[in-house]
Amino acid sequence: MVEVKFENVTKRYDDGTVAVNKLNITVRDGEFLVLVGPSGCGKSTSLRMLAGLEDVTEGKIMIDGNVVNDLSPGARGVGMVFQSYALYPHMTIHENLSFGLRMEKGENRLPNEEIERRVKETAELLSLTEQLEKKPKELSGGQRQRVALGRAGIRRPKVLLMDEPLSNLDAELRNQMRTEIRRLHDQFGTTTVYVTHDQIEAMILADRIAIMDGGELQQHSAPLTAYNEPANDFVSGFLCKHIDEIVDTANRIFTER
Ligand SMILES: Nc1ncnc2c1ncn2[C@@H]1O[C@H](COP(=O)(O)OP(=O)(O)O)[C@@H](O)[C@H]1O
Ligand SMILES: [Mg+2]
Repeated sequence: MVEVKFENVTKRYDDGTVAVNKLNITVRDGEFLVLVGPSGCGKSTSLRMLAGLEDVTEGKIMIDGNVVNDLSPGARGVGMVFQSYALYPHMTIHENLSFGLRMEKGENRLPNEEIERRVKETAELLSLTEQLEKKPKELSGGQRQRVALGRAGIRRPKVLLMDEPLSNLDAELRNQMRTEIRRLHDQFGTTTVYVTHDQIEAMILADRIAIMDGGELQQHSAPLTAYNEPANDFVSGFLCKHIDEIVDTANRIFTER
């Protein structure tokens, strides 16, 4: 049971900016939650607090029933994928995938055979088997983003965090990767928090969405509930502006499945 909870979480940066204000979100065990809202609304700050990359000013963040406010990023059991996926350029894809596992010390260190097994399995899942001995520069953008996904997943994180992971890809690849990300989630059932400013992406990927504006939560519900019963004018404007695109894309994706 890996549930994630934000309880009255506030983030005030040193310059006084309140980036997140009394945020309450529950991500259920195995759920794919999408945090969505316009640029600057506090999505990345929320995710970075959950990852341990940013201090919490007030409130509590819980993973698996434990308050993690004071835990280091490494001790939280989270895997992360960012928009700019910095792969190690001088390492092969195999080495990039296994790096995190090879660096583990003590009781967390897996035997080499298990690391090897996971690299193979991850490469297969992400269609990277043929690329294992190549360097990142020999791969396409989509393949590199898959490596970044694999690198996060290979550690079997309790929670998978993604911050606009597809924004650097072109439209076709983005569609393809969305389907892939959702497929991987359905296969592993890892509790996931996915950040995007893109309403279409949110509606397509999410079990539930959390819509933010100005550092505050506007609605936390199933995507269609937010569309059919928007909590306020902001939500209604934010979702409905793009509804034709959403319906088009959704139809296309669901008929392809
Ligand atoms: N290190 C920082 N110091 C001060 N303000 C910041 C810092 N990082 C982000 N902000 C501000 O916090 C707000 C939320 O930012 P962010 O979480 O990055 O939004 P989003 O990811 O939704 O675009 C914005 O007003 C942004 O300018
Ligand atoms: Mg951001």
